[in-house]
Amino acid sequence: MNVSTFSKPARVYTPLNALQSHAEQLQAKSLADLLGGECQVAKRRAEALRFDLGSLHLDFSKQRVSEQTLSLLMDWARSCRLEERREALFAGRHVNVFENRPALHMAARWPEGEPAPQGMEEAVAFCQAQRQKLAGMVERLHARQWFGATGQSITDVVHIGVGGSDLGPKLVSETLGQCPSQQHVGVHYVSSMDGAQLLPLIERLNPETTLLVLASKSFTTADTQFNVKTALTWLSEALEIDVPTLCGHQLIGVSTRADKMTEFGIPEAHQLEFKEWIGGRFSIWSPIGVSVAMQLGMETFDQLLEGAHAIDQHFLAAPLHENVPVLMAVIGAWNSQFLNIATHAVLPYDARMASVPAYLQQLEMESNGKSVGLDQKLVPHATCPIIWGDVGPNAQHAFYQLLHQGSHTVSADFIAVASREHGIEGPLADTLNAQEHLTLANCLAQSQLFALGDDAIPAVSRGQMAQGYRGNQPNSVILMQRLDAWNIGALLALYEHKVFVQSVLWNVNPFDQPGVELGKKLATSLYQQLEGEPVDTPTVFDPSTGALLEKIQAWRQ
Ligand code: F6P
Repeated sequence: MNVSTFSKPARVYTPLNALQSHAEQLQAKSLADLLGGECQVAKRRAEALRFDLGSLHLDFSKQRVSEQTLSLLMDWARSCRLEERREALFAGRHVNVFENRPALHMAARWPEGEPAPQGMEEAVAFCQAQRQKLAGMVERLHARQWFGATGQSITDVVHIGVGGSDLGPKLVSETLGQCPSQQHVGVHYVSSMDGAQLLPLIERLNPETTLLVLASKSFTTADTQFNVKTALTWLSEALEIDVPTLCGHQLIGVSTRADKMTEFGIPEAHQLEFKEWIGGRFSIWSPIGVSVAMQLGMETFDQLLEGAHAIDQHFLAAPLHENVPVLMAVIGAWNSQFLNIATHAVLPYDARMASVPAYLQQLEMESNGKSVGLDQKLVPHATCPIIWGDVGPNAQHAFYQLLHQGSHTVSADFIAVASREHGIEGPLADTLNAQEHLTLANCLAQSQLFALGDDAIPAVSRGQMAQGYRGNQPNSVILMQRLDAWNIGALLALYEHKVFVQSVLWNVNPFDQPGVELGKKLATSLYQQLEGEPVDTPTVFDPSTGALLEKIQAWRQ
């Protein structure tokens, strides 16, 4: 009898099969084993997983990856034709397949005078013209030549938008403009549809010197339209000036819909445009960043774009195994798809970066939170993990307990700033410097403890100190030399390209968001019910929703 008749058929080699088998082997090892203490091999491994990009340093050595893992991951990326797909992205091909358009957010940060990739030239020219218009508006504002309807110079800007029309500019304003001395004008962000963020501003701001920015790619988002209506009503009542006159003086529009801005009453001179080929969550580089430029100046806004552009160049040119966004993507996909890690924490160790987790939630989850592929078939494995997080030092006093001793495996990005460069001298500088050291020490300690758990303590003293710290939580550390516009631009662009690469690996379209539409329709029907209006699209009311609606109506009578 031929024995081989009964042996298991050999698994066909594909990069995915190879990665699956490799994951099974590597799972058996602890991260402590992989990091390997101070031996030469371990040092070489760690060295190979550290990268410098301008004044950013990225350390992936506490990820559960070996040299072999990386090589298999690169095989996988190549088998997905990553290089070709990257070229198609920059050449303006219709990579947003389901909406049949390109994704050219890189055009908005392409510098003047630098030749653009073939296929992107027209987009770059359009973006540069809008950037010039933006610069003119900023100059007028900073020269105190922008007057409200009563003739007073503008001192405050209220930026009204939501999602991609809010999160990016808000993040940059917060990280770079926390001190009033850094600001040309006060900038305030309003996004939530309930009006709750507007009310305190209405009490605080002078209606004569307040400029509204209506930021909405589609110009149809209800959250933004309602907030703008309330803000204009406030200005109109307070100044006893009609809304159309106010729109002529105290409202800027940023949208892809010039027709709708005009219809709304925004003069052409106060309209900033971008095009459909810039997705909302990729739009901080476009005129959606107007409030950042008004708050911090055009120079700072340009540095933000320069940092992001430097990453575009790196992403385009660096070989895959040294390409940082590619590495971020393959490691992230490895964690999610092969190591079954369903959630990823973003932990900035600098309170100025408090909005980074929320920004990345939209960027990553709205892009790759999909389970239907480009081939319209169900993707048979995990895609984007759940992204969440908070300011690291505060989170240490909240949810780190679960991360260290709970039952979930979580991956994480620690993001820290090496030097605050606060420009302060004397005793105050000493205490502030000590606080910086304290923060950095905590960041490194936690990253180490996440990876090593009890093994972070030398074996000799472990007896007294080991307390069941699970370790084996793979994490990366992203260190910035300082928190400036260039570094923030570079950081956000790294994540953008990470998202693109992962979409290639998972074969999903990262540039649409069909999953947000049905909720809007249901909410419209319920809103019409609450307002006592005829319902346009009847929907099914389950007993729970029906009873809640009745309760609300009873309480609001
Ligand atoms: O509802 C989701 C979404 O469409 C996001 O993709 C977008 O960033 C946000 O709403 C705001 O949309 P808009 O800029 O068109 O108002």
